[in-house]
Amino acid sequence: MKTLAALEVEGRRVLVRVDFNVPLKDGAVADDTRIRAALPTLEELRRRGAALILVSHLGRPRDREPQLSLRPVADRLAELLGTPVQLAPGVVGEEVAELARELKPGEVLLLENVRYEPGETKNDPALADALAHLADAYVNDAFGAAHRAHASTEGVARRLPHAAGLLLEREVTTLTRIVQQPERPLVAIIGGAKVTDKIAVIGRFLEIADAILIGGAMCFPFFKAQGHEVGDSLCEEAGIEPARRALEQAAKGGGARLELPNDLVLGDRFAAEAGRRELDGVDVPAGWMGLDVGPRTAERYAAEIAKAGTVFWNGPMGAFELAPFAAGTRAVAEAVAQAPGTTVVGGGDSAAAITQFGLADRVTHLSTGGGASLELLEGRQLPGVEALA
Ligand code: 3PG
Repeated sequence: MKTLAALEVEGRRVLVRVDFNVPLKDGAVADDTRIRAALPTLEELRRRGAALILVSHLGRPRDREPQLSLRPVADRLAELLGTPVQLAPGVVGEEVAELARELKPGEVLLLENVRYEPGETKNDPALADALAHLADAYVNDAFGAAHRAHASTEGVARRLPHAAGLLLEREVTTLTRIVQQPERPLVAIIGGAKVTDKIAVIGRFLEIADAILIGGAMCFPFFKAQGHEVGDSLCEEAGIEPARRALEQAAKGGGARLELPNDLVLGDRFAAEAGRRELDGVDVPAGWMGLDVGPRTAERYAAEIAKAGTVFWNGPMGAFELAPFAAGTRAVAEAVAQAPGTTVVGGGDSAAAITQFGLADRVTHLSTGGGASLELLEGRQLPGVEALA
């Protein structure tokens, strides 16, 4: 992977792929974590005399949906950088090329949502060419999109002198160390709703970790595979077989211990005002759904986390967005924040949870990549990283 330090940027126009795919609310940026995470690279490039052309996707537009314009992002970035950020009227084309040509060192131009161009997700060579023509060099700092082989993450890297941004480099180094040389014990906490999204990473951790702690609605396919009643809980049908195989693999021994909750918090519906009860056990009665891990599970998981040399956490323990069902996720977040070992939180919902609890600055590394961090840990090659070789 080529580093930013080795790339010649002074007096050059540098196309920087960032992952500004951030949540919006009422037309403004609701969480600017990903924008802040890109600042070190942007500031270094400006300091070194580069003119910046930034490119990002936002959401998954089918068309040029105006509500997925990067306008709110441009405004927030300008505040954070303390310099104007011009939003281009499109992604490529003559008008955009003219704006790029006029840029002076230190100035910042943000292209419109790159997924407004249908060629982006197809890694269309014509779009990669057009992007490359805007700049003299390319920096990829979009770790969150590095698992996508798209025109702005892969195609364009093959057409310009390139380097990894500081964020992308730190993400890759930190996550690679977890799988290659972790401080032991290595404890993986895997939660969220769907087993099928995470079964590959569970498989990898069964081989390399010391313990895997399962939480969130994804525990129900495991419970069903064990013959428990799941009541009205969200239980992904397609996850039952993979969960059964993971349980079998764990039972063979020689790998990680696979830990499941032994108590739950139930609700009679998915709502903050739902009827609520604690269940000492995991057989969920009809008319109820498991919405959080119980206090005994939270305590057991916290004890594992406290003993760990390395902790990786991806996915909440329950419906933490509903206050009565947030305690399990909060307990895990607090245990991770207090853990003496190296702590890494994989993006998405667990990053949102730890931020919501005000603990984001208490972990060693908060990844900006959800899918990308999981694919890297699974041992898959990320096209956006490979292209920076
Ligand atoms: C993410 O939010 O995980 C990244 O920005 C990638 O987005 P995508 O899943 O729409 O490619």
